[in-house]
Amino acid sequence: MSMQDGRILITGASRGLGRGLVERLLVAGAIVSGCSRQPSDIEHPNYTHFVVDISDEPSVVSMFKDIAALKVPLTLLVNNAGVSQVSLGILTRAANAEAIIRTNLLGTFFVSREALKLMQRQKYGRIVNFSSINVPLGSAGSSLYNASKAGVEAFSSVLARECGNADITINTLGLSLVNNSGMLEALGEKAVSDKQSNMLKPKVLEVDEILHVVNFFASPLARNMTCQTLYFGGL
Ligand SMILES: NC(=O)c1ccc[n+]([C@@H]2O[C@H](COP(=O)([O-])OP(=O)(O)OC[C@H]3O[C@@H](n4cnc5c(N)ncnc54)[C@H](OP(=O)(O)O)[C@@H]3O)[C@@H](O)[C@H]2O)c1
Repeated sequence: MSMQDGRILITGASRGLGRGLVERLLVAGAIVSGCSRQPSDIEHPNYTHFVVDISDEPSVVSMFKDIAALKVPLTLLVNNAGVSQVSLGILTRAANAEAIIRTNLLGTFFVSREALKLMQRQKYGRIVNFSSINVPLGSAGSSLYNASKAGVEAFSSVLARECGNADITINTLGLSLVNNSGMLEALGEKAVSDKQSNMLKPKVLEVDEILHVVNFFASPLARNMTCQTLYFGGL
């Protein structure tokens, strides 16, 4: 089994990077599913969209029941859905703090857990998470966002170990600034230049650059490549 034989699930597929990945994968002939809280306007015979809030556990479980019923097995999960934080720690309100942790940490965990149940039955699967260079940079204004992404990196390495000998890998990509994305648009000019001044490779990422590395982790030949966090930007 390989990515080409199966279904790819991209969370947070309605806009930004997630949408860009879906569009490119469909052009490449892949069978793709996506989810987000808002509906998607992508119409394609190989695309199924689920309107799901990943922080709501019952909705995630229900989505995976539907995915299992779609027949084509889930071979790749890209945990892309996320919300950002643009506020100093001392000004971050409880509701905002909770939303960040519920989506980025708990939501990503619920989706990974349900995907792993399917992948363990198949004894094959690839999971790629999106973290951020904010984690090692410790950028101002993103305390809980960084904590949520560091949490994803931490639980992923444990889940990867829990997969035993099955041909399942879990890896994380620490993204730098991404072109045409909601999170880049939400940043002010100073925040962008502060981040860029700390990177060896400060140019914004295009979707194809990210897809290139996702494809590497997703390939059957990368079966011994797991538990890794790879950062763009040259820190
Ligand atoms: N953009 C960057 O520069 C950058 C840098 C480093 C890392 N990243 C990471 O890359 C990923 C994508 O970033 P982006 O800038 O493309 O984000 P974006 O443009 O803000 O889009 C976020 C996507 O996630 C979905 N989403 C948010 N909360 C959700 C929830 N609770 N349940 C389901 N879907 C949800 C949104 O759709 P709905 O609102 O319809 O739910 C949307 O489709 C994120 O994980 C982010 O942390 C981005």
